[in-house]
Parts: sequence; C-alpha cells; structure tokens
Amino acid sequence: MTCNGEVIVRPANDDDLEQIYHIELESFKYPYPREYLKALLALSGNLFLVLEVCGRIVGYVVGLIEFGVEGHVLSIAVAKSFRGRGYGKKLMLELESRFKERGVHRIKLEVRKSNTVAISMYRKLGYRIVGVIPRYYPDGEDAYIMVKELKE
Ligand SMILES: CC(C)(COP(=O)(O)OP(=O)(O)OC[C@H]1O[C@@H](n2cnc3c(N)ncnc32)[C@H](O)[C@@H]1OP(=O)(O)O)[C@@H](O)C(=O)NCCC(=O)NCCS
Repeated sequence: MTCNGEVIVRPANDDDLEQIYHIELESFKYPYPREYLKALLALSGNLFLVLEVCGRIVGYVVGLIEFGVEGHVLSIAVAKSFRGRGYGKKLMLELESRFKERGVHRIKLEVRKSNTVAISMYRKLGYRIVGVIPRYYPDGEDAYIMVKELKE
C-alpha cells in the first residue's frame, strides 16, 4: 500500500502507548513513566492526542481540563526525526479546538526556561509568559508559566 504522507490527529488509545512512550524517552530528560502516561490516557477524556504520519505515531499532546474552565497542556512531544515540519503546532491547534468545544476560556502550560524552541512555538500560537515557578523541574531549573486566553 502506498502512502501520500497523510497526516492525521486523533485521540490516543492503549494500543498507542508503546509508540508514545518511545517518543517520550527521546524527548525529555525526565520522561513520564509508562504507567503515568497510561493513567493520563484514562483521565484525559479524548484530550490525549496523537499525530500519525502514514500510520506511524510521530507526536503526541496531552491536555486536561481543570476547575471546569481552564485547559492545562501537560505535555507535548514530536519524534526527533520529524521535528520542524509543523507537527507540534498542528497538535497544539487541535488540542485548542477541542478545549474550545468544551468551554475552556484559558489555557496554561509550564515550560523550561531554557526550552527556546518550545517557547518560540508557544509564543507564535499566542501564549505569553505570566510567571515563573522556581525549581519546578527535578534538576532545579525554573519553569515559565505561559497562558493563552481563548476568544469566543
Ligand atoms: C517543542 C516541539 C514539540 C515542537 O515540535 P515541532 O513539530 O518541531 O514544531 P513545529 O515544526 O510545529 O514548529 C513550531 C514552532 O516551533 C519553533 N521551532 C521549531 N523548530 C525550531 C528550531 N529548530 N529552532 C527554533 N525554533 C524552532 C518555531 O517557532 C516554529 O514555528 P515556525 O515553523 O513558524 O518557525 C518539539 O521540538 C519537541 O518535541 N521537543 C522536545 C519535547 C519538548 O520540549 N516539549 C515541550 C515541553 S514544554
């Protein structure tokens, strides 16, 4: 079967966990344990999304709705060899649209101060830095809190 580079974003399921975990391992200094990702999958109610290229999972994003109205982006990653092709943005936009459908007015996330690539992506998507959490990460690095207000 041939593939024309078809890209789809869809809710993740348990069968995707191995591929998601693989991306997690190559993307983060302190990867989420497999069991934690599995728990998020159960909790996130279709807000744990994967991006597939020709049937292969190359990225994921996971969001949760807190206090009924606030979206929280818990994690996003794209497989190393597929970065810089717009997939990260695509995942964020799909998550945003699902947040909107569920009445979310504001989205927040945390990002390492040194993660210039992710910060650049979030800024382009309209997020702004509203605060700092000192020593948020296990190695002592601070996090920026970034927020985006969603328009009606
Ligand atoms: C952050 C991440 C998800 C971005 O995914 P991606 O698919 O490479 O991003 P995109 O191709 O959609 O690019 C989105 C924006 O990111 C920024 N960006 C992407 N690659 C970049 C690079 N090499 N250098 C600088 N900025 C870059 C740009 O602002 C880009 O916008 P542009 O295309 O208009 O220039 C990816 O780099 C990743 O998985 N990193 C490791 C995990 C991580 O840090 N996650 C974020 C945790 S808060």
